[in-house]
Amino acid sequence: MSSNNIEQRKFYLKTMGCQMNAHDSEVITGILLSLGYQETDSVEDAELILYNTCSVRENPERKVYGQISRFKALKEQKPGLIIGICGCMTQQKDEQEAILKKLPHVDLIFGTHNIHRLPELLERALDGERVIEVWEDTDEIVEDLPVRRSNNLKAFVNIIYGCTNFCSYCIVPYTRGKEISRQPEAIINEVTSLAQEGFKEVTLLGQNVNSYGKDLGLNMDFADLLKQLNDIPGLERIRFTTSHPKDMKDSLIDALANLPKVCEHLHLPVQSGSNRILKLMNRGYTREYYLDLVRKIKEAVPNISLTTDLIVGFPGETEEDFQDTLDLIREVGFSSSFTFIFSPRNGTPAATMSEQIPEEVKKDRIYRLIELQNEISSEYMQTHLNQVVEVLVDGVNSETQELTGRTRTNHPVTFIGDPNLVSKLVPVKITQCQTWSLRGELVK
Ligand code: SAM
Ligand code: SF4
Ligand code: F3S
Repeated sequence: MSSNNIEQRKFYLKTMGCQMNAHDSEVITGILLSLGYQETDSVEDAELILYNTCSVRENPERKVYGQISRFKALKEQKPGLIIGICGCMTQQKDEQEAILKKLPHVDLIFGTHNIHRLPELLERALDGERVIEVWEDTDEIVEDLPVRRSNNLKAFVNIIYGCTNFCSYCIVPYTRGKEISRQPEAIINEVTSLAQEGFKEVTLLGQNVNSYGKDLGLNMDFADLLKQLNDIPGLERIRFTTSHPKDMKDSLIDALANLPKVCEHLHLPVQSGSNRILKLMNRGYTREYYLDLVRKIKEAVPNISLTTDLIVGFPGETEEDFQDTLDLIREVGFSSSFTFIFSPRNGTPAATMSEQIPEEVKKDRIYRLIELQNEISSEYMQTHLNQVVEVLVDGVNSETQELTGRTRTNHPVTFIGDPNLVSKLVPVKITQCQTWSLRGELVK
């Protein structure tokens, strides 16, 4: 280790983007704690400021430039301060160059494939070097890195890295590299240890978990992995995200229907309800295929909660295409959806497609979409009234002293009960339904 004493140094870590990044930040935190750093939520107190960035849309990227340029003054007052950027932004050549040019006070840049190299990179930065190390891709999964979980009941577990789908609007295949599945033993060992430590729930992560195993040559698919995880003693709930509709096999529908620990929630991004737009997006399915898939899933798992991602204002999207999206969300009855305005990403095919949609049209469409989704969500939530649901109790509300938890379908629930129930599964009768949450009474 360098002559610089990093013991008792504090780090401030800002995380943007998806659950993958959230989990990467748990690993980064684990590494920094193992080096003797302490975490702080104040940039002024920190000797290391690190931004784990997201590139999926333009706005968060702009924020990174805005926020990090403000640390220039801080660095002048505190010359030993290390400022670092990692995550998806650094994986793009043009962003890397822009960071170097616009943020000359940044000392450390690393990517999504070499997080395990942080101790060495940090040491070099502490020795005064401006460190830039970004790997374009990797064939190797580094196991057994330290990880500091942000919750002690529920854990994220990666099962597949990267994405090779190349949806025409999406930057992720360029920032996260090609798909590589983790070995099943590594996943099973991690989940077994988590269950032994008292974790009750895991969320399996991948840009497309439905592709799990294709590259392993082991003759096993995602549903086979779920079967093995379902047998782990002590584990109560299994969730996963994200499932690409084009790769959703009947075996996974069976797993959702028949494996008791696999929860009745499926995030199944549709993006658009128009066949013309789905084709331009390179999604690999049609509206009819998606609706038929939903029909099969609902038949097999009648109480499933379906959620989705939707993009409005994709190049060439007409009012008629947009109406197709509204029709589809009505027909499916998603319990909620993440709605996005199309954001052109440099290097993706959609960024240079003709017929880009004017900002005011995009905004008008997203307002209308959100309004309709809110109506659908409220109606859907009302269906819980007087039902008894299983709740995993995860905490106590500090203001009301009520217990908080989640249903198997992942809706938040509050109810009055003994704090000893935290970490237990309990039956709760729903007495009140709001658009995004439920309230109930403990069933004795
Ligand atoms: N892999 C997942 C999938 O296929 O659905 C999620 C990937 S991405 C991290 C999450 C969501 O961001 C996407 O489902 C899409 O709706 C949205 N998104 C991706 N690129 C976008 C873009 N250029 N503009 C607006 N939204 C975008
Ligand atoms: Fe992006 Fe499509 Fe891959 Fe999802 S499946 S990460 S939307 S390219
Ligand atoms: Fe996730 Fe954003 Fe990267 S959504 S994979 S952190 S581009």
